[in-house]
Amino acid sequence: MKKLGILLSGRGSNFEAIARNVQAGKIPAEIAVVISNKQDAIGLVRARELGLTTRFIPSKGKEREAFDREVVAVLKEFQVDLVCLAGFMRLLSPYFVWEFPNRILNIHPALLPAFPGEDAQRQALEHGVKFTGCTVHLVNEGMDTGPIVCQAVVPVLDDDTEATLAARILAEEHRIYSEAICLLLEDKVRFEGRRVLWKA
Ligand code: GAR
Repeated sequence: MKKLGILLSGRGSNFEAIARNVQAGKIPAEIAVVISNKQDAIGLVRARELGLTTRFIPSKGKEREAFDREVVAVLKEFQVDLVCLAGFMRLLSPYFVWEFPNRILNIHPALLPAFPGEDAQRQALEHGVKFTGCTVHLVNEGMDTGPIVCQAVVPVLDDDTEATLAARILAEEHRIYSEAICLLLEDKVRFEGRRVLWKA
């Protein structure tokens, strides 16, 4: 059985969607460990309630790579095959990225490369785009710059607020994150430069 490692910093709704799909047998893997850099992250509480193994690793006051080395050590301890960032609000060091080549996924609430970084939904509203969405991508050393695995398009409505738009995007996030995980775990994709393509 393949093993997932989940990293989160907050609410953890993407983690919960993944956990539900694992439970339902829709993702061929188990969640080996849930790690958070925030002690009071709701996602960490929910993971404990679900009976999953959790670790709190504080990031405050640590050098980026020192923190990442602690996280990587735990992921290796649990022999994690695929790392899923689920609202994990930190850039990864090159060290971390090289330890898991093409095996770290992130979800972002915009159609990358548009609106990277924080407040992607607000950026979309302020820019005036008519469509936005979400992206699951492989993680590299940049901010939301890695190769794209899956995307979903969401319309921006005239009466949208940041909250209503975020909610509509989130429903799609919950769907495509699990899809992307399956694509990688089932070895259905190949890499050609920045492009993630279906295997023939
Ligand atoms: C999600 O909308 C995710 O796309 C976003 O944070 C939220 C976390 O929600 N991530 C980013 O903006 C990363 N740049 P969750 O904790 O409920 O999964």
